[in-house]
Amino acid sequence: MSAPLVLGIESSCDETGVALVRGNELLADEVASSVDEHARFGGIIPEIASRAHLEAMVPTIERALASAGASLGDIDAVAVTAGPGLVGPLTVGAAAAKALALALGRPLYGVNHVVGHAAVDQLVHGEFPERFMALVVSGGHSSLLLVDDIATAVDELGSTLDDAAGEAFDKVGRLLGLPYPGGPHIDRLAREGDPTAIRFPRGLTAAKDQAAHMYDFSFSGLKTAVARWVEARTDNGEDIPVADVSASFAAAVADVLTAKTIAACQRHDIDTLVIGGGFSANSQLREMAAARCAEAGISLRIPPIRFCTDNGAMIAALGSAVVRAGVEPSQLDIPVDSSMP
Ligand code: KG4
Ligand code: ZN
Repeated sequence: MSAPLVLGIESSCDETGVALVRGNELLADEVASSVDEHARFGGIIPEIASRAHLEAMVPTIERALASAGASLGDIDAVAVTAGPGLVGPLTVGAAAAKALALALGRPLYGVNHVVGHAAVDQLVHGEFPERFMALVVSGGHSSLLLVDDIATAVDELGSTLDDAAGEAFDKVGRLLGLPYPGGPHIDRLAREGDPTAIRFPRGLTAAKDQAAHMYDFSFSGLKTAVARWVEARTDNGEDIPVADVSASFAAAVADVLTAKTIAACQRHDIDTLVIGGGFSANSQLREMAAARCAEAGISLRIPPIRFCTDNGAMIAALGSAVVRAGVEPSQLDIPVDSSMP
């Protein structure tokens, strides 16, 4: 018997994603984004995102079905992001998923968005090993997950106490006068700069932080350090060496992310690391992770970037794993949870 056909719906931020997955096979993956509508505000406006989801949701579902050559009646289960994310946007996706589950008489599975960022790798690089580590980094999250079973046993070892990695890049981008989102611009500039030019602080790596925050991250102190460094030079009328600042800042972020992740792999005897989330596009992180994983004998899996930014495939992939694990479906009155652990 073939695996169940799972429809996945993602709407936690500004992307409306709908995908169809059977087993680990991706049959359709459609995304509509409202990112352009937010650019002039320099950040996501939840109400604009919610309205955009409301308009895009049904057409995106229809496109996904058409692209898989499937009809509504073929769907065996519906998975939806229940959190974390923005409440309004999450609610639009949850309402659509509940309506489909109710009308089709199929089970509904509310799943975790951050875990979805790791789960999607299974569609690309095949079945996961028995245990692995996942680093999920984006504009909204920076989490280190120890995964015993992607459907049932995910332990968050640490997360950011303040800004997410991408968010820190966007804030530093703003103070350097770069367009929103600043992350990719800093990445590009950093490639022309000297990462050792300025020694910026590595948050939560001091000995005193090891007990309580060994695997947590903090990027707001780093962002403030960059701001102070830039302000001091601006006040003196000096030119800002933007490439060197970018490279030194990017190196500090990549250093902390990779050092803590690899330490966690070694401590838990893990030999596979999955990196997901939109920030995994970052060149400095990729290079440092590749080098340090090779050195530590850890095999590194990073899905292609279209699966790292928010999408429906990640939710369908996790839904598919959850269904196959025999997990009880969610009730049709499940809430959305903006800060889901
Ligand atoms: O996962 P994603 O598409 O959506 C959010 O969860 O926000 O991640 C987007 C984030 C933004 O903060 C963006 O600036 C950052 O990831 N980003 C990058 C790069 N590409 C995207 N940051 C640094 N270097 C990049 N190449
Ligand atoms: Zn995300």
